[in-house]
Amino acid sequence: MLPDKLERYPRIPLAEYPTPLEPLPRLSEKLGRRVFVKRDDEIGPAMGGSKTRKLEYFFAEARALRVPRIVTFGGLQSNHARLTAGVARQLGFEPHLLYFDRRPASMEGNLLVNSLLGAEMHFIPIGGGGNAHMTLETSNRLVRWLARLLVGQHYFIPVGGHSWLGGLGYVRAAVEIERQARELGIENAWLVLAAGTGGTLAGLLAGLTLIKSNLRPLAIDVGRLWKKFPESIARMATRICFKIGQAHSFTPEQIPILEGNYVGVGYALPTRECADAIIRLARLEGLVLDPVYTGKAFAGLLDLMEKGELGSDEPVIFLHTGGTPSLFPLGQNLLETGLGPTFTNPA
Ligand SMILES: Cc1ncc(COP(=O)(O)O)c(C=O)c1O
Repeated sequence: MLPDKLERYPRIPLAEYPTPLEPLPRLSEKLGRRVFVKRDDEIGPAMGGSKTRKLEYFFAEARALRVPRIVTFGGLQSNHARLTAGVARQLGFEPHLLYFDRRPASMEGNLLVNSLLGAEMHFIPIGGGGNAHMTLETSNRLVRWLARLLVGQHYFIPVGGHSWLGGLGYVRAAVEIERQARELGIENAWLVLAAGTGGTLAGLLAGLTLIKSNLRPLAIDVGRLWKKFPESIARMATRICFKIGQAHSFTPEQIPILEGNYVGVGYALPTRECADAIIRLARLEGLVLDPVYTGKAFAGLLDLMEKGELGSDEPVIFLHTGGTPSLFPLGQNLLETGLGPTFTNPA
């Protein structure tokens, strides 16, 4: 059984599972089919989010290795970096975060939380991947090397927690979602999520494939960040299956990701459709998304449904991965960009 095979790998539980799988009744009525949200947005410390599931495995390894310093990196508003710092403090480690950018004049959103946590933030304005010139693997290799020079001995967590070990967190989630879907009588549902480094998708895809689930994952790329992105995700999903002891190979063509369609100008630059989606969901269901990941992914979901590209009556599950701290520095213009402050009746 897959859950038993996962138990081989040490893990420090950092949240209560299963996370809720909630119906969105008013949106479902508007769209004429059942829509659900999987609430991975508030799990874990320091304002929480989906990366908690990956960090449970990384920190178990770091604890076994008895390394006091943890290093990771990401974009200025990286939720992964903030959560890594939060878990580090929760478990008594020293967090170091690398940003390949200038030190901003003021610490806002995720950076503010990092400051409260006393994370050591290293700002290195040389560009560190994330502009589609490098593969994920190359970027991680370069930063790992640099981190050794800057921080000395440490435990390194790749950008976004993108590794087979982190991916195990979403293999567990796949088993959890499948179980919940079965209990709720949800069949052949689309499972829509945002992709930044693609590790969440790789874990879900591996897990759902191995348990022969009829759920259909579909990721919306939110950044056009990496060269040969589907290749990296396919490699990761294949590796995850191998590590679990159930060999299965994925090709880049089998990776269910829509690259670039909903990114707009670039990573962390909200689109009008993203602003619309955030406002619409907040007013219809009281559910708050973020402007970097979930807002763009939800905009993609609405557009795909409108175009009839998600079938006609299959249920839809949206994976809410969190990220709301970036609303404060990046969401100031949403009301002007989106449907507008007087918009109250989302039809
Ligand atoms: C809020 C949020 N959603 C989605 C993602 C994407 O996850 P992944 O990097 O596994 O694709 C991230 C991180 O990158 C995130 O912070």
